[in-house]
Amino acid sequence: MLPEGYAIRELALTDAAALAEAYRRNRTHLAPWEPARRESFFTDQGQTAAIVGQLAAVRSGILRAWLLFHDDTVVGRVNLNNIVLGVLRSGSLGYWVDAEHLGRGLARGAVEHVCQWALARGLHRVDAGTMPHNTASQRVLAACGFEPYGLAPGFLFIDGAWQDHRLYQRLLHDRPLDTAG
Ligand SMILES: CC(C)(COP(=O)(O)OP(=O)(O)OC[C@H]1O[C@@H](n2cnc3c(N)ncnc32)[C@H](O)[C@@H]1OP(=O)(O)O)[C@@H](O)C(=O)NCCC(=O)NCCS
Repeated sequence: MLPEGYAIRELALTDAAALAEAYRRNRTHLAPWEPARRESFFTDQGQTAAIVGQLAAVRSGILRAWLLFHDDTVVGRVNLNNIVLGVLRSGSLGYWVDAEHLGRGLARGAVEHVCQWALARGLHRVDAGTMPHNTASQRVLAACGFEPYGLAPGFLFIDGAWQDHRLYQRLLHDRPLDTAG
């Protein structure tokens, strides 16, 4: 459940300008937690190109992407990346919330929304990695039933360096998988 006044919906090409505006507003806020970005990333054209690529990944089944809205303003996003079926049936979370909208349960609501989507689509597991000092993100994951299962040294190239990450997972169900045939 998102807090009152907020909505979540799937990413669309028509969101490019609002998303670029959100990235411009949150450039300093997000810099420590994201890969380095080219200047073009913060433009409407740059986000149009990025979304075209992301929607192709959605069509091929490896990605789902949602935006968080307050009225028509984009105030966050959540992705389920690297969706894998077979006997793994897993996806990896990535998310952020606008600096002016923190601490209201938006990230928790978004993560729960994605977990429910993943469960409904037959996934078994959702995982997430956070840098060891990202306490806010770790609290979000703990509140959503994720458990830590290890530390991955040099896991992601974030803010200009290969950063260690604490790994978390949530198992969505324990029903057996029909692997016969
Ligand atoms: C992590 C992030 C998404 C949280 O968004 P949010 O909407 O504020 O999250 P919520 O309101 O659902 O919950 C935030 C939790 O973190 C806690 N928190 C917030 N700032 C904190 C801080 N500096 N230190 C410790 N805890 C903090 C809040 O108290 C809350 O925990 P609680 O519910 O147990 O009290 C947001 O801070 C963000 O966008 N950070 C930058 C990008 C990022 O780190 N993305 C995740 C990468 S893994």
